[in-house]
Amino acid sequence: MSEVQRHHHVIEYQPLSVAHFAAVIALGNLVHGDGYLNADLLATYHRQGQKAGHNAGVVALDHQGLAGFRLAFAPGQWQPDQWCSPQQWGLSADRVGYFKCNTVRPDLQGAGIGGALLKLSVQAFIAQGAQAGVAHLWVQSPGNAAVRYFSKHGGELVAIHPDKWRADSLNGYACVRCGFDCHCDAAEMILRWC
Ligand SMILES: CC(C)(COP(=O)(O)OP(=O)(O)OC[C@H]1O[C@@H](n2cnc3c(N)ncnc32)[C@H](O)[C@@H]1OP(=O)(O)O)[C@@H](O)C(=O)NCCC(=O)NCCS
Repeated sequence: MSEVQRHHHVIEYQPLSVAHFAAVIALGNLVHGDGYLNADLLATYHRQGQKAGHNAGVVALDHQGLAGFRLAFAPGQWQPDQWCSPQQWGLSADRVGYFKCNTVRPDLQGAGIGGALLKLSVQAFIAQGAQAGVAHLWVQSPGNAAVRYFSKHGGELVAIHPDKWRADSLNGYACVRCGFDCHCDAAEMILRWC
């Protein structure tokens, strides 16, 4: 059995809590680039995920510690911005959750943990009254893993948005691919279950 498969059998999933914050910030900055997450941002994202007694933020743990995390915002607890095309969703925006970020530790990528985290967020979204979730997938993700895993789980493409993270990169976020002048594209995608 491969290393990845062995690890995959002992993954435990838990709702995101303050106890996970330091490890989530470190893994987010390692995988996406320095400045991607900080304590203030994560505290806000954590609050945005909680509604109706359910938490759409989820972590995966293994014997080494944090294996991955998914940040997600409950329906009605985020604002569609210029990177969103709500007229194409065919749903009221307040019935749509937002999949903020999915991140798996590099040695465990490609073993299905990202998909498992996504499903747990969807369960919370359903309990929170959402009919769908929208995400911006990193098109230049290594191996195209981001768009591939989200499509495999039923996500449909809405629009491609060039330079989605450029302003962040000019403002201190060092993209792991482009540095401080990021030209990565975002694929706006929607996952429906109603
Ligand atoms: C995207 C991500 C969360 C998906 O989680 P995962 O547990 O790796 O997902 P899966 O195991 O379902 O893999 C998804 C697909 O990408 C492939 N893949 C995953 N990681 C890969 C890598 N590093 N290089 C090449 N291919 C990879 C898998 O083989 C799989 O393809 P397939 O279903 O056609 O075989 C995870 O790969 C990750 O953290 N990637 C880096 C950060 C990132 O891109 N996050 C998303 C930002 S929007």
